[in-house]
Amino acid sequence: MKDEVTYRGLTFVPYITREEIDARIKEMGAQITADAAGKMPLFLCVLNGAFPFASELFMNFEGNAEIAFVRLQSYEGTSTTGNVKELLGLNTDIDGRHVIIVEDIVDTGNTIHRLISDLKTKNPASIKVATLLFKPEALQLPVKPDYVGFEIPQKFIIGFGLDLDGLARNLNDIYVIKGTD
Ligand code: IMP
Ligand code: MG
Repeated sequence: MKDEVTYRGLTFVPYITREEIDARIKEMGAQITADAAGKMPLFLCVLNGAFPFASELFMNFEGNAEIAFVRLQSYEGTSTTGNVKELLGLNTDIDGRHVIIVEDIVDTGNTIHRLISDLKTKNPASIKVATLLFKPEALQLPVKPDYVGFEIPQKFIIGFGLDLDGLARNLNDIYVIKGTD
């Protein structure tokens, strides 16, 4: 872990370590394994940010499961545009499936809310949401994630999939803007 990292002139300091992330994802995997026993869930990874989390969560699920991907985007720089674009649609049939949406972070709730309403029209057996991070204070829509890795205050973070304009996703730890930590 580095003391500080800089992207686009913004300095970030460590916030959540990779060890803490890994330990929490193991717990979430065990919980989902217990809840989804015998159901063969479909993990639905929301690209791009959720891919490291989805990978680890999926590998910590024991039992039969599948994974699929959708690509959505609502952020520009460090703030939400409030306008969710579906960039790469779902081409897996979810009729009768137990879907577990896997997100990196639920912030305003716009992305998840939009995705859930889209998915509901495709007749799944159930929809659950697993998110690595959740900013409850930022929530603007009635969304309640079923599995939350870490609840955090309204701060901008990067790393482990989370980006600043496409960069910093490959940081192993999660960092927060310096001065807001
Ligand atoms: P929402 O639609 O406002 O809930 O935002 C969800 C999306 O915004 C996430 O999937 C992230 O891509 C992005 N996002 C929200 N907060 C942060 C953050 O602190 N850092 C990086 N990306 C974020
Ligand atoms: Mg995202």
